Amino acid sequence: MSVKRITTNTLLKMKANGEKISMLTAYDFSFARLFDTAGIDILLVGDSASNVMAGHETTLPITLDQMIYHAQCVIKGVQRSFVVVDLPFGSYQSNSEIALASSIKIMKETGAHAIKLEGGEEVADSIKRIVSAGIPVMGHLGLTPQSINKFGSYNVRAKEESEALKLKNDCKILEEAGCFAIVLEKIPAALAKEVSLSLHIPTIGIGAGKDCDGQVLVMHDMLGINSAFKPRFIRQYLNLEPLIENAVKQYVADVKSNDFPNEQESY
Ligand code: KIV
Repeated sequence: MSVKRITTNTLLKMKANGEKISMLTAYDFSFARLFDTAGIDILLVGDSASNVMAGHETTLPITLDQMIYHAQCVIKGVQRSFVVVDLPFGSYQSNSEIALASSIKIMKETGAHAIKLEGGEEVADSIKRIVSAGIPVMGHLGLTPQSINKFGSYNVRAKEESEALKLKNDCKILEEAGCFAIVLEKIPAALAKEVSLSLHIPTIGIGAGKDCDGQVLVMHDMLGINSAFKPRFIRQYLNLEPLIENAVKQYVADVKSNDFPNEQESY
């Protein structure tokens, strides 16, 4: 049976109809297949791969080719979900020509459906150029982890009036530049509500309250694979870390005691 794929039009219609959009990160084939089957609308191949897959402290080190590798794995597991790939740090900030070249490389080599990039007014020309080439663009405002060295912390953003005004202005600029959706990360819920009501395109929140048009979480956080990281915006649906640790401990014990493999597990 053929499955109806999610497109940017589906997402716009979902906002218009008041249907919330579900988004989750994925970095490999096996989890992408499970998430797609479970009905996730958007899979984000996030540059959070730099943290949760590669073990770096920030999202800065991951390269374009590494993002492409993760996206190639994810796309193989997907039938219905809309797949968005993060442009990594350094692959788009220099100018709009480089931003377009990086986006084309991702689309050509992965088969993904869209790219995401961080920033407001300063990336508007790049967004226009990428969209003109036929590539859907998702924006990302509020806490933008690629700018961690500029801000110095992962605290809530846009609490001050001036920063909130800039965020509202940037949202409008991103919508006018052609973004099909905007991620709002770690901003006050009231501000996210105001912005979401003012835009035609959907907002996807992470730590931005319940009035965004959709929600996104990092898969490791919601599945409880990284229990050391627990900011209040995370809802943990599973506690996999102790389950995995206990399963592996049991396996080690079974191997050491020569209990595994038994006769049924042998040829
Ligand atoms: O890279 C990522 O996982 C993200 C989400 C936090 C939105 O950008």
